[in-house]
Amino acid sequence: MDSPLRVLTVPTSPYPDQRPGTNGLRRKVHVFQSRRNYLHNFIQSIFSSIDLRDRQGSTVVVGGDGRFFNQTAIEVVVQMAAANGVGRLIVGHHGLMSTPASSCVIRKSKAIGGIILTASRHPAGPDGDFGMKFNSANGGPANDAVTNKIYQISRTIEEFAICPGLRLDLTTLGKQTFDLENKFKPFTVEIVDSVESYANLMRNIFDFAALKELLSGENHIKIRLDAMHGVLGPYVKRIMCEELGCPSNSAINCVPMEDFGGQHPDPNLIYATDLVDSMRDAEYDFGAAFDGDGDRNMILGKHGVLVTPSDSVAVIADNIFCIPYFQHSGVRGFARSMPTSAALDRVAKATKIELYETPTGWKFFGNLMDAGRLSLCGEESFGTSADHLREKDGLWAVLAWLSIMATRRQSVEDILKDHWIKYGRNYFTRYDYANIDIDTACEMMEDLELLIADKSFVKQRFAVEDKIYQVEKADNFEYTDPVDSTISRNQGLRIIFSDGSRIIYRLSGTCSDGATVRIYLDSYEKEHIFQDAQVVLAPLATIAVKISQLHHRTGRNGPSVIT
Ligand code: G1P
Ligand code: ZN
Repeated sequence: MDSPLRVLTVPTSPYPDQRPGTNGLRRKVHVFQSRRNYLHNFIQSIFSSIDLRDRQGSTVVVGGDGRFFNQTAIEVVVQMAAANGVGRLIVGHHGLMSTPASSCVIRKSKAIGGIILTASRHPAGPDGDFGMKFNSANGGPANDAVTNKIYQISRTIEEFAICPGLRLDLTTLGKQTFDLENKFKPFTVEIVDSVESYANLMRNIFDFAALKELLSGENHIKIRLDAMHGVLGPYVKRIMCEELGCPSNSAINCVPMEDFGGQHPDPNLIYATDLVDSMRDAEYDFGAAFDGDGDRNMILGKHGVLVTPSDSVAVIADNIFCIPYFQHSGVRGFARSMPTSAALDRVAKATKIELYETPTGWKFFGNLMDAGRLSLCGEESFGTSADHLREKDGLWAVLAWLSIMATRRQSVEDILKDHWIKYGRNYFTRYDYANIDIDTACEMMEDLELLIADKSFVKQRFAVEDKIYQVEKADNFEYTDPVDSTISRNQGLRIIFSDGSRIIYRLSGTCSDGATVRIYLDSYEKEHIFQDAQVVLAPLATIAVKISQLHHRTGRNGPSVIT
């Protein structure tokens, strides 16, 4: 028998900048590679944040989106989990697990949490981004109390524990056991097929027979799905092609790649170019793209008509009983992040279902779901999901839309038009200014906050051509969690006009370096529902730039990306 593996305690020095952002710690790959123990420090901080009694003998899930550095990081996570008293690790086959599948596996395996290795939609490779986050036992991103604890530990860390001799075979499904010195029981690692676990969950939510008929029956529709070389490819192939019968050419870019083929794995009209190109003529009735870790989605109709994520969640809400899961579980509440358009609010009002407006980031939804108060939620940033797990879920959103199409026997465009006719339309867009100097961005936000806090700002009027907007309310958004009463401050500057239009300013919390200023524009029209969103929102954009003096401050003359 091999001698037990050694557990080492290695001295280290802390870094001051390991504060998790909106969704974990994101840095350039070279930061993880070149700063001594940068990765180890953060992993140790995660484990140390869990009480020893809870950690000892516990189950932890590990997976990643397959980007460059994924394998290296997984090896270290496994070696450190063993040394930190974790009893059992559940790891995705080849180290891969989509973010929604990780959430699903954490919940199913009754793990104390999971470590997810991803920088989501950001480019990968040696010059790209890497990220790491901790999800709690409910399967969702850890809340602020936990991430703050991790951060505080990282600032004073002096040593980490590791089992450097532990070598794992990620290619073989099944259990592997390791004897560790000082350990009574062996440390076990299970390599699992997370695609099957996730597929099983979907089978219990949707009517697969009806979807199969829609996708491969006699009068089937034609769809095109783009996994953008992210982690979702195998899930798309297994569920959509093998099980629901879509022809294999309807799923593209389905081989996960370490650099996502050199592209941004970001499902929007700018970056999902393969999908957008193939949807242009009328060949496909439905299209969708996903991001690197498979939690985001973009839904397109024939000719590439975009369903904005804000509309998407509202349409799903209005048609929620097309999904069998909700026929059984009922609908407890709807929620959207604050910058997401108010389209969902109109459905909530009409259906008399509670609506929650939360800060940006998925973690806020989890608390409401755990308390049985929330069923369906969405963010404008191409995130939609429900309480079947605690992450946004790209493929779930696709199956939700297809369920609506199967029930209503209508095209995406007609479903959307009917929705606007019924509720009116919230025009929405987001302007992103990327790579702004951090001090300039912070100064702009501070000045803006002072400006809008001034009493004279309310009732002020702004005119652009023949449009006049009068300020009704302006504040820095603050959220009190209705379940545990924790207060989250400083969640975005809001200017709300008397006609309900809104301008919102936020700094991104997911950049790996520099600052990204986000400006969100939302305007409601009851009657004129078939206009071009950019045209409708142009006056608000002019006002937003003027008030903030963003162009003057940064020397830019327009946003880097408009979504
Ligand atoms: C962005 C999105 C936000 C999303 C987060 C994680 O965060 O805006 O809605 O939850 O990514 O996917 P931000 O960079 O704006 O902080
Ligand atoms: Zn993502």
